[in-house]
Amino acid sequence: MTNSEAMQAVDNIMLSVVNSDVKTLRDASKHILDAGGKRIRPRLLVTVYQALGGTDYEYAAPVAAAVELVHTASVVHDDINDHGVVRRGRPSVNAIWGRTFALLTGDFLFTKVYELMAPYQDLNIDLAAATVALVEGETMQAAAVKENNFTREVYTEIIARKTAALFRSAATLGAKLAGASNEVIDAVGVYGFNVGLAFQIIDDILDLTADSEQLGKTSGIDLSQGRGYAAAYGGNGQAGVAVAVADDGDPMKKIKERILRGDAINEAYEQARNLRDMAVGALVVLPDSAAKRELIEIARVVVDRDR
Ligand code: IPE
Ligand code: IPE
Ligand code: MG
Ligand code: MG
Repeated sequence: MTNSEAMQAVDNIMLSVVNSDVKTLRDASKHILDAGGKRIRPRLLVTVYQALGGTDYEYAAPVAAAVELVHTASVVHDDINDHGVVRRGRPSVNAIWGRTFALLTGDFLFTKVYELMAPYQDLNIDLAAATVALVEGETMQAAAVKENNFTREVYTEIIARKTAALFRSAATLGAKLAGASNEVIDAVGVYGFNVGLAFQIIDDILDLTADSEQLGKTSGIDLSQGRGYAAAYGGNGQAGVAVAVADDGDPMKKIKERILRGDAINEAYEQARNLRDMAVGALVVLPDSAAKRELIEIARVVVDRDR
C-alpha cells in the first residue's frame, strides 16, 4: 500500500465509523470530514510507521483515523468557543446546525475514538494523554485571556498542550505500531512535538496575515479575542490588547498594523524555523528512506505554508 492509499484508508475508516442512524450526527460529521483538511496528523503517524519499516496498514490506519477524529472533534468544539463560522472552506458545523448540535457532533466524534482504539491496549494511554493535554491547553488559553495573563511563557505552555501534544502522539503512535525501540519512540516524539509547536505558531501568524478565504476558516479570531502569538509577543501579555485601544476608526485594523510593523512576525518565523530544525535533527536516528525524506518535507511545509 502506498502512502496515499493508506491515507485513503484512513478517510474511509473515519467516514464509515460516523455512519450513525441519527441523521444530524451523521450529516454534521460527514460535512466536516468530507471537507478534507490537511490530514497532517494521520499523515505523520502513517509516515513515521513507514519510515520504521511498518507495512501492515490495516493495523495502523484505524489509529491514524482515531488521531484525526480527536483533532476533528476539537475543531468542531473550537468553532463553538471561537465563534468560527467557516471551517475547511465550508460553513462550520455550528454555523449550519447551531451550537447544541455542534457540541453533540464533537462529543460523537470524540466518543468514536474509543471504538477505533479498543483493540490497541496501551496505545490508548498515549492518545488519551494527548487528548487531555488538548483540553487543558484550550482551557488554559480561555483562562489566560480572562485573567489578562497571555504572556510568552503562558502562550508556549498553551500551544504545547493544545496542539503539539497531539502531533507528538501521532508520531509516537506510528513508532509504537512499528515496534520501535524506546530510543526511537522518544526521538520521533521530539520530532512530532516540535513540528506541532511550529505548526501552531505559523497558524497564529496566518490568522493575522491571511484572510478567511485563503485559510478556509474564519481568520482574525485570535486578535479579536486577545490571544495567540500576537497577544503574547505584540501585546505585552495583555489579553485585551485589541479591545484596549478601541478608539476611533477600526481598532482591529490599527492593532494589526501595529503588530505587522513590529518584530512579532519575524520573531515567530525565526522560532518556527528553529523548531523545524530541532524536529528534523531528532530524525537522525532513522535510516534514510523515502518516508524519512517525507517527514523532513512535512516539517518544512509546516513553516513555509500560506494556508
Ligand atoms: C487547525 O488544525 C487547528 C490548529 C491546531 C491550528 P489544521 O490546520 O490541521 O486543520 P485542518 O484539519 O487542516 O482543517
Ligand atoms: C484550534 O485552535 C483547536 C485546537 C488546537 C484544539 P485555534 O482556535 O487556535 O485554531 P483555529 O485557528 O480555529 O483552527
Ligand atoms: Mg481556539
Ligand atoms: Mg479557533
